[in-house]
This record gives sequence, structure tokens and C-alpha cells, in this order.
Amino acid sequence: PDERTLVLIKPDAVRRGLVGEILGRFERKGLRIDALVLRTMDGDFADQHYAEHVDKPFYPPLKAFMTGGPLAALVLSGDQVIEVVRGMIGSTDGRKAAAGTIRGDLSLSNRENLVHASDSVDSAKREIALWFPELG
Ligand code: CMP
Repeated sequence: PDERTLVLIKPDAVRRGLVGEILGRFERKGLRIDALVLRTMDGDFADQHYAEHVDKPFYPPLKAFMTGGPLAALVLSGDQVIEVVRGMIGSTDGRKAAAGTIRGDLSLSNRENLVHASDSVDSAKREIALWFPELG
């Protein structure tokens, strides 16, 4: 029984033309794309997605960035996909993320870090239900 995770290819990646590069890494790894949509978040939706961060000092500029243009939202599935994808994207700060990871190879920012991925089984369930209610 494969796990699922919610991934956002953020507005900086869309703007920079890196959607194919990032999707390709997930596909070549052997993960399956179960859902995929291009969408621009509004403020209320961003607050729901980032419910655990809304009170943090970095949230207002994060919200402006995340609502500032279209992003690609997708559901990936595969064996231990939550942990596998977290490893592939690297640590939050692109300046510190290891070479070979998406952020380590392609981002130089703590905010504009190209990708979001669910960090636990519970957050994956919550985020998939928010973005793709039709997946149940
Ligand atoms: P993400 O995985 O989407 O989860 C929360 C996001 O907030 C994170 O990626 C970054 O884009 C952003 N973020 C987290 N910490 C900081 C920080 N200290 N300064 C700026 N942005 C941050």
C-alpha cells in the first residue's frame, strides 16, 4: 500500500521555468503522479494550507510570495514517498541544502525554495484533502 504526499512546485519555480526539471526528478525516481493542477492561491487558501505558520514572523512575506503567481500542485505516491520526497527536496534554506537535492542544486533562498512537500502522514492527509478533495 503506497503512501501519498502533497507537493507544491512554488511560484518561483514556475516563473523560472523549472517545473519540468522538478517534475522530471520525481518521475525518474519512480514516483507516480496521481493528480496535478496549476493554480494561483488566494490569501484565505494560503492561510489554510500554512495553518501552522500563520502566526510566524516569516508568514506575511511567505504569503505574498505564495499567492503572487501560479504554482503546480500535485499528489505523488510510492513506497515511503513522504520521506523520499523530503530527502529529494533538501533542507528549507537553499543556501544550506545539500548538493544533489532540488533546493541545493537550484535555490539560493530560505523563502523562494521552489518546492513544498508534506512533512508527515498526518500533514499529507490534511494537505491532500485541502488541495484535492476529490481524491478522498
Ligand atoms: P515550506 O516547506 O513550504 O514550509 C514553510 C515555508 O516557509 C518554507 O517552505 C519556506 O518557503 C518558508 N520559510 C520557512 N522558514 C523561513 C524563514 N526563516 N524565512 C523565510 N521563509 C521561511
